[in-house]
Amino acid sequence: MFPDWQTLFAPRPLTGRAVRLQLAGLTSPVWFASANAADLMELPVDSFLTTADSTRAGAFKFGQPRENFTLGRLAGKLALAAGAEAAPALGASNPLNPALSPGGGEAEALAQRLRSFEIGNGERGEPVVRAGDLQSPPSLAMGATDGGCKSPALGVSLSHVNGLGVAVAFAAGERVGLDLELIDDRRAETVRKGVPLSAEEEAWLKVTSLPEATALLLLWTARESLGKALGCGLACKWESLALREIELTGDGVFSGRFLHQPQFHCVCWIGADAVMSLAFAPP
Ligand SMILES: CC(C)(COP(=O)(O)OP(=O)(O)OC[C@H]1O[C@@H](n2cnc3c(N)ncnc32)[C@H](O)[C@@H]1OP(=O)(O)O)[C@@H](O)C(=O)NCCC(=O)NCCS
Repeated sequence: MFPDWQTLFAPRPLTGRAVRLQLAGLTSPVWFASANAADLMELPVDSFLTTADSTRAGAFKFGQPRENFTLGRLAGKLALAAGAEAAPALGASNPLNPALSPGGGEAEALAQRLRSFEIGNGERGEPVVRAGDLQSPPSLAMGATDGGCKSPALGVSLSHVNGLGVAVAFAAGERVGLDLELIDDRRAETVRKGVPLSAEEEAWLKVTSLPEATALLLLWTARESLGKALGCGLACKWESLALREIELTGDGVFSGRFLHQPQFHCVCWIGADAVMSLAFAPP
């Protein structure tokens, strides 16, 4: 999706990829993964969802919302598993690139790994990592124990649009949010009409060389990514998520700071048909 990203991890049998990104200011790298409808042909849904995940998926009777939910879970699990794999002290035990097996056991081994933990949702809808070996060993446990369970060592943020799920895994305690939108004129128009922009955002819109729809969706995804990093989503005053500066830092890559949350940074990537933003702040 974003061609300059280096693929460090390609879990067989999926073509989906996970990449490691080092973000300035965060103590450890984050792990990004995406999943698309083709991945679900390789890894059947029921093979990697836990019973609770499946029950949630089943609440969407059929169609796109159900697939999007599933793709979000797949991307989230891939990102978490990649992060745990890269930092064995955080709890990984089972390699994500299982050895080739004549019986075609790769899919089964990967599915088993992904099924060993769950991504639920907290009270505000935020994704919560539960169970499995992604929990911290005692020396790394953060904060109090909860009902006998140690805190998870990794957190996750995810986003899904039609046919695509993306997720980022990060060290628990860091504040990270991810949002993705397909570039779509009607969606951009909704932002233009429905979202009061800050003076800084309006000024940037006048000078950026991006097409207006792309620029508006960049502003919107940056705001949503901040809402997710804060844990409120969009259930807050939208002005409180506004940007104060945005600059081009690479080919199709922008970085920004927020008006009311100066400790947060964001990075925004412009793809051929999508815009994605990641907001983050050190603990
Ligand atoms: C969080 C929110 C911004 C998601 O927006 P979206 O663009 O529709 O959906 P995305 O695919 O990008 O993200 C969905 C994921 O965000 C995550 N999420 C939901 N609420 C969250 C929160 N408060 N904090 C962090 N992450 C959250 C979830 O993981 C969710 O996926 P899941 O339900 O499959 O686990 C939005 O649902 C929200 O704010 N809801 C709060 C209620 C509200 O004010 N709604 C008005 C919307 S106009």
